[in-house]
Amino acid sequence: MDRSGPGRHAPQDSEPGAHAPQVDDIRTRALAEVAAAGDARTLDEIRVRFLGRRGDLTGLLKSVGKLPADERPAAGADINAAKRAVELAIDRRGAELSQEQLARALEEEALDVTLPGRRQGVGSLHPVTQTLRRIEEIFVGAGYEVVTGPEIEDDYHNFEALNLPANHPARAMWDTFYLEDGHVLRTHTSPVQVRVMERMGPPIRIICPGRVYRRDSDLTHTPMFHQVEGLVVDEGIGFTDLKGTVVGFVQRFYDRETEVRFRPSYFPFTEPSAEVDAQCVHCGGAGCRVCGYTGWLEVMGCGMVHPNVLSMSGIDPERYTGFAFGFGADRLAMLYYGVDDLRLLFENDQRFLQQFA
Ligand code: DAH
Repeated sequence: MDRSGPGRHAPQDSEPGAHAPQVDDIRTRALAEVAAAGDARTLDEIRVRFLGRRGDLTGLLKSVGKLPADERPAAGADINAAKRAVELAIDRRGAELSQEQLARALEEEALDVTLPGRRQGVGSLHPVTQTLRRIEEIFVGAGYEVVTGPEIEDDYHNFEALNLPANHPARAMWDTFYLEDGHVLRTHTSPVQVRVMERMGPPIRIICPGRVYRRDSDLTHTPMFHQVEGLVVDEGIGFTDLKGTVVGFVQRFYDRETEVRFRPSYFPFTEPSAEVDAQCVHCGGAGCRVCGYTGWLEVMGCGMVHPNVLSMSGIDPERYTGFAFGFGADRLAMLYYGVDDLRLLFENDQRFLQQFA
């Protein structure tokens, strides 16, 4: 075929009916390409190639003018019909493609609404906090006031005013964290007794819960733990008051009749001093691993406040007497809940903590 016309595909021969096969041919090719198009960009490209300003069908239409006048209407109609068919096919395929894309997206982002929902975790009080609150409740119910003091303490309150002058050998009872400026991380809550006695006169009836620190770490020791200190000062306070208070507390805490015994002991700030054992809450006194097969668990230290301690804080030991006690709240929590490793209390493992929710 001779090609001298303007359009690449513009037919040059003007024989009657010569357009028909060419139109069919272009239409067939166009429709095949449209059917095979896999995305919108390919479709656009096909549209330009066949229907664009310099497209195949557009070129063919332009050449209609060269046909004999009587052939023009039929040829024009043919080509326009082909154009419409291709246009329609492109539109349909376009719609099909976007349907497919939507279906794919829906499938990819599919939500299985039958899966269980992810719930917001509900927090709960730490077992040590729960224990401290129970302890406070018991003592507040007995007329005690809850008092707190600083965790960074000076040597005077942590040791000296508790009848532990510098170089006193009993200072070795506490593995102390010393700060550079001579302060310490308090090794017990006993210094709060001193601060209270300095501030208020008898009658005194307080407990002091709080964190204490020691250089110690194993199954039953952590560098930070919680103590509760108790102090009662008034006229006529005797050891029987101490015993009654401690036994009553232990039984209320464990919520059952628990045997309690007092063993003579030594603390620089009390005289006489005692350590208190409670019947093992695990074996009921028969002897087990928890109590080291003794049937008893040591729960606190206590005694009658040493006269030196009273007078150093401005209380007349001739007129007033008092008792004091101190115990580890974490240890009580462990025994109460049956936890066998103290460190679990401070690792914040949710699987552990959720059991106390
Ligand atoms: N502060 C002592 C300790 O940490 C415990 C203690 C014992 C406190 C006897 C007292 C007490 O108030 O009278 O080991």
